[in-house]
Amino acid sequence: MADRVLGKTGRIVGPVVEAREVVDVEMLELVFVGDERLVGEVVRVKGDTAWIQVYEDTTGLRPGAPVFGRGEPLSVELGPGLIGSIYDGVQRPLDVLRAQTGDFICKGVHAGALDRDRKWEFRPLAEAGQELAPGAIIGTVKETEVIEHSILVPPGKRGKLLDIVGPGRYSVEDVIGRIAGGGEESDLRLYHRWPVRRGRPIARRLAHKMPLITGQRVLDTLFPIAKGGVVVVPGGFGTGKTMIQHALAKWCDADIVVYIGCGERGNEMTEVLLDFPRLTDPRTGRYLMERTILIANTSNMPVAAREASVYTGITMAEYYRDMGYHVAVMADSTSRWAEALRELSGRMEEMPADEGFPAYLPTRLAEFYERAGMVETLSGKEGSISTIGAVSPPGGDFSEPVTQHTKRFVRAFWALDKQLANARHFPAVSWLESYSEYTGDVAEWWGEKTNGEWVELRSAIISVMQREGRLERVVKLVGADVLPDSQRLILEVAGMFKDAFLQQNAYDEVDAFCVAEKQYRMLRIIVAFYRLAAEAIKKGATLVGIKKLKVVREIMQMKYAYTNEEAEKLDQLEKKLEESIHEIGSIFG
Ligand SMILES: Nc1ncnc2c1ncn2[C@@H]1O[C@H](COP(=O)(O)OP(=O)(O)OP(=O)(O)O)[C@@H](O)[C@H]1O
Ligand SMILES: [Mg+2]
Repeated sequence: MADRVLGKTGRIVGPVVEAREVVDVEMLELVFVGDERLVGEVVRVKGDTAWIQVYEDTTGLRPGAPVFGRGEPLSVELGPGLIGSIYDGVQRPLDVLRAQTGDFICKGVHAGALDRDRKWEFRPLAEAGQELAPGAIIGTVKETEVIEHSILVPPGKRGKLLDIVGPGRYSVEDVIGRIAGGGEESDLRLYHRWPVRRGRPIARRLAHKMPLITGQRVLDTLFPIAKGGVVVVPGGFGTGKTMIQHALAKWCDADIVVYIGCGERGNEMTEVLLDFPRLTDPRTGRYLMERTILIANTSNMPVAAREASVYTGITMAEYYRDMGYHVAVMADSTSRWAEALRELSGRMEEMPADEGFPAYLPTRLAEFYERAGMVETLSGKEGSISTIGAVSPPGGDFSEPVTQHTKRFVRAFWALDKQLANARHFPAVSWLESYSEYTGDVAEWWGEKTNGEWVELRSAIISVMQREGRLERVVKLVGADVLPDSQRLILEVAGMFKDAFLQQNAYDEVDAFCVAEKQYRMLRIIVAFYRLAAEAIKKGATLVGIKKLKVVREIMQMKYAYTNEEAEKLDQLEKKLEESIHEIGSIFG
């Protein structure tokens, strides 16, 4: 598309540049500023002045420089080759940028998101003469060993397929067919463009029914998220937000993961960049990067690109959802994104609201989270986007605006607790402050996995944890010694649940990820311990005696001792537990 001259630069306020004497400009139009052609987007227009948010460093830019307009909004390229890529906030591939300019990303570098030279094996599925609706599948490309990439009629286009190429190898720019409809003819390629700020259309929304298994026991068992769900992870400095996001990106059972590193420190992102390409997926045995797209927008990169990064990420997620995949999107951290919004708003001298954030912060948050969901796609498939956003409230204070507004748009809240983190209880997810409104949605799925026991086991342990909360207050006043064994058992079981179940070591090979079958059996054993011990105590056994049992030590170690593949062997441990406690009970029986 040819760029036209839109106007010339006026005031330059950091990442915000004024364009004067503009003619015929569109809101949200993609523009290029100055002779270096810095990428930007029109964010406000008043009379013949337009405000441009520039995605690159504006130092050295002078007033009076030309501004070019592209006549289309900021868009991303959608086609084979996205998977395994690492992009900046406006979808420029980091490796190409680095090859062109060295480690420091220079300005005015324009690199296509998709490799133009690479050829893909295309298999057509539609025939010439066929009437095609928007989003229809015209063929497939094997993108990675695990991802079959459907080539879609771009949403918005429909009509008769005039011709289509035969099976063969094509690059993304090759014309693979032509479609005629609405009085116009257009070429079809392996990729198309889509504006990042507009959600891609779907047929309809569907009810949530499957959990997104995270492999983290505290989350899957106590605060589950459904596929298509939205959750926020608020936590103060160093409470483990990034570790949780990484764990999910590595182990959750989504088909595709889009990880948006948003304004975090460069070294955290380096960890992802170095770690991920080496890791293998426990389900497929393939490299994790074969299902992952990374967006890296660290704190030292331009602030406006950070604002765009979440939309770039969710748009790519929608594209794979449209093929019928379950996609998980992680954004770490949305607070840094909101701060970018605040900075840009300040530079435009807008009226600030809560704590300097613009009044439209909640609208923007809603626009991002709303794009998640379980849906029927235009081609009639089932696909989903689950969104997990981290929030870093200053001082760990959850009453600040980003946490509070986000809370309105999400249905699960994984609150990270400073005290738990200080006590090295990880993941530091507070069982008192966190909640999930997806529990009912996923109960049937879990019921099928657990002989219908899940709901009951879960409420049994939650009630133990609640009773422990109340008893702790008594203990603080008068000490644990005054409590009868039946009540001390509650403290004992709660402690066992925290240490042996809720705590999970991200650095341990066996424990880092826990399949549903193992979670269920571990939970069953702890609840069985509670019931059997309570019974034995009633008959006269002492808690001290019960705690001395060898099987108790084995329970405390079960998360490390049994691998995911050996989950069924835990049934033997439960048998052993029954026998050991019956033995004690029978002495008094
Ligand atoms: N599941 C876990 N297992 C073991 N250690 C953990 C776990 N989660 C967090 N930690 C420890 O806590 C540290 C801080 O975690 P992390 O970097 O994820 O915190 P954060 O909330 O992202 O911090 P920041 O506010 O700086 O972004 C880690 O370096 C690690 O030592
Ligand atoms: Mg972090």
